[in-house]
Amino acid sequence: MCLVAAPAAPHSPAMPSTLPCRIDLPDEAATSAFGESLAPLLRAGDVLALWGEIGAGKSHFARALIKARLRAEGRDEDVPSPTFTLVQTYRAGALEIWHSDLYRLTHPDEALELGLEDAFSTALSLIEWPDRLGADLPPETLHLRFAPGPTDSARYLTLESAAADWAVRLDAILARRACIDA
Ligand SMILES: Nc1ncnc2c1ncn2[C@@H]1O[C@H](COP(=O)(O)OP(=O)(O)OP(=O)(O)O)[C@@H](O)[C@H]1O
Ligand SMILES: [Mg+2]
Repeated sequence: MCLVAAPAAPHSPAMPSTLPCRIDLPDEAATSAFGESLAPLLRAGDVLALWGEIGAGKSHFARALIKARLRAEGRDEDVPSPTFTLVQTYRAGALEIWHSDLYRLTHPDEALELGLEDAFSTALSLIEWPDRLGADLPPETLHLRFAPGPTDSARYLTLESAAADWAVRLDAILARRACIDA
C-alpha cells in the first residue's frame, strides 16, 4: 500500500483560493514582492499577525508592505524595525499603520497601554510576536506564519484566518502565487 500523499496542486486561476494555504518565498525579493502585492488590498481595521522565529522575515515583509503604501502616496521613508520602540506608526493618506514588535512585552496589559487594541479597529495593524497578546487578537485576524524553507534564503509562508472573507479579498494574489492548500 502506498502511504505517500500526492503533492497538492496549486489552485488554478478558475478555482477560488481557500485558506489556510502556503506560498513559497524562495528569496527575500519574493517576500518583498508578496508584501507589496498585499499592500493595496489592506484597509483600516485589518489586523495581520506575523508569526515566526527570530530572523524569519516578519520585519522584512512588513517593511516592504509599508513602503509600498507610503510610495503610493508619493513618500519614500525609512521603515525601521520596531524592535526597541515596540511600535512604529505611519500615515499613508487616510490610512494609519501600526507596526509593532511585541517580543519585549512581558504582559498583555502592556499592549493596552500602548493603545494597540484601539488601533485594531482604527488602523492597519502589523504585529510581530503576536503570542505576547495572549488571547487578545481579534477573531478576524489574518495570520501569516513564516517558516524556514529548503535553502537559507527561502521561507514558507502560511496564511490562515477564522474570517472567511480573507480568501475572497486575497483571491487574485493567492491564485497568482500558487498558494497551495496547507
Ligand atoms: N526569503 C526571505 N524572506 C525574508 N527575509 C529573508 C529571506 N531570505 C533571507 N532573509 C533575511 O532574513 C532576515 C530576516 O530578518 P527580519 O528582521 O525580517 O526577521 P524577523 O522575523 O522580523 O525577526 P525578529 O523576530 O528578530 O524581529 C533579513 O536579514 C533578510 O534579509
Ligand atoms: Mg522583526
